[in-house]
Amino acid sequence: MSIKQAINGKTSLVGLMGWPVEHSLSPCMHNAAFAELGLDWAYVPLPVRPDDLPQALKGLAALNFVGVNVTIPHKQAVMRYMDDLSKAAKTIGAVNTIHLQGNKFMGYNTDAPGFLNALVEKDCHPKGMRVAVLGAGGAARAVVFALAWAEADAVVILNRTTERAAFLIEDLNDTFPQSKLDFAHLTNNSLAALDGKIDLVVNTTSVGMHPEKEKSPWPTDVAIPRNAVFCDLVYNPLETVFLARAREAGAKVIDGLGMLVHQGAAAFEHWTGQAAPIEVMRRACLAGLVNKLASE
Ligand code: ATR
Repeated sequence: MSIKQAINGKTSLVGLMGWPVEHSLSPCMHNAAFAELGLDWAYVPLPVRPDDLPQALKGLAALNFVGVNVTIPHKQAVMRYMDDLSKAAKTIGAVNTIHLQGNKFMGYNTDAPGFLNALVEKDCHPKGMRVAVLGAGGAARAVVFALAWAEADAVVILNRTTERAAFLIEDLNDTFPQSKLDFAHLTNNSLAALDGKIDLVVNTTSVGMHPEKEKSPWPTDVAIPRNAVFCDLVYNPLETVFLARAREAGAKVIDGLGMLVHQGAAAFEHWTGQAAPIEVMRRACLAGLVNKLASE
């Protein structure tokens, strides 16, 4: 993907702060969107070591950046440097998008709306659904927040470490007192018990992600629940073993590309105030993934 607009003295800058960042698809996704809309903007990777985070944030203001995306390991650590946080960022406990407005740092979390938009574009509407979320890490926090916000009927969090799932629920209960949030240990039995009682299963764990593509959080000896939609946040590979098995069993499946694109689109809209060219961003991510595959 080439940047059509030449960088010049007036180019608006945004980027991605993380450690590492070299494998990210965000630069090609955002630069494709800027080129599509003829915006004089550029998105650059910003590798920042954990110890350098405070100086890097100060540097953003000094260098007149419009904003940044934030990824591992800084999503929680940046929160204390924000002048204001959106309700989603505050409740989830993580910022993935910063918008600098007059030297004020505004912290947002676009993973939650990104996840919901990825479901809705596949005609999956969580309102009233019974949902099982596998995992209780950072990604799960955004997903469970989004599901509660969208008025899912009930959400059960299944995690290897049950304490983490319990903490997640504790953190969300104040914001969503009416939501039915529960947790259980992630075991063959707890997964098998979902049969007939669940409408949507979301994998937020990293199990099945490149390079461990042959793995799945759903054991082979546990049947796929009937009539449930299966969604994976992993996008490399696009069809994980988790999704392939569900699809073979007749389930509707939703891969992780949609959430990647929609969280990026929401960040794009915060920064530019313009509607994001979703399909251009999706094609740029797909092209980036194909390139990755070729080099793996
Ligand atoms: P992220 O920000 O991507 O969610 P994370 O906060 O490190 O990353 O969370 C990773 C999630 O994947 C956790 O729920 C983790 O389970 P634990 O809380 O028990 O660590 C889950 N996970 C990672 N590897 C796993 C595995 N092999 N089996 C089951 N769960 C796993």
